[in-house]
Amino acid sequence: MKILMIGDVVGRGGRTTVKNILPDLINEYQIDFVTLQGENMASGFGLTLETVMEMLEVGVDVITSGNHVWDKNEFIEHLDNPKIPVIRPMNYPMNTPGRGYLYDSSPVGVVNIIGRVWVGEFDSPFSVMDEVLSNIYIDKKPIIVDFHAEATSEKAALGWHLDGRVTAVVGTHTHVPTADCKILPNGTAFVSDLGMVGAENSILGAEVEGSLNRFLTSRKHRMRPETKGIMNFNSVLITTNDTNNRAISIERIDRKIEI
Ligand SMILES: [Fe+2]
Ligand SMILES: [Fe+2]
Repeated sequence: MKILMIGDVVGRGGRTTVKNILPDLINEYQIDFVTLQGENMASGFGLTLETVMEMLEVGVDVITSGNHVWDKNEFIEHLDNPKIPVIRPMNYPMNTPGRGYLYDSSPVGVVNIIGRVWVGEFDSPFSVMDEVLSNIYIDKKPIIVDFHAEATSEKAALGWHLDGRVTAVVGTHTHVPTADCKILPNGTAFVSDLGMVGAENSILGAEVEGSLNRFLTSRKHRMRPETKGIMNFNSVLITTNDTNNRAISIERIDRKIEI
């Protein structure tokens, strides 16, 4: 099976880029299943039903999220709708709206989990993953994990903790693609960060001015996604062994287009 995982999509420019690139990629590589990190899809902050539908229409199967999933209040009720394949990190407190993984309704199990180092106070991603994996099994279908975290050490540690128990552990959240794709000894594909779908001339997808001024003045400035110019599309393609659902390969698929 071929699984494409797309990094944090930032705003309208990011969505336009996905619409331009994804259908051709699916054909070119004969991709069976696509995930996309959607926490910044709607004007850089959160998701809306419209932006989710836009991405599902061009071939995305499951949308994962992260700390920004709560930014658009009106979307929160949709997190509990079984027909909408959007998940939020598993290790939020009990009774938080939404689901942390999809398994029964999907040909690939997709788990979303968030890190604690420089991100926030959450339940341990390590013990929560152990718990999740007592309910879902790699022997039945591939299982991929979007670990939404800042520290590369925490991401690498979770990769090793889950080696052989899931098909892939990929990092998201930093918006910076890393060059460390590898298969761990027991068959789990790993990369520290997928990167983003967003403008090249930006700070993590946001207009330079607002983000730079935060650092120059130590005060809040309005952050808006950069919507024009060269756009980066960052993703990884994972090929699985259909017999045991472990990973055979993981490679970066990165593209640039001008919009
Ligand atoms: Fe993000
Ligand atoms: Fe994030």
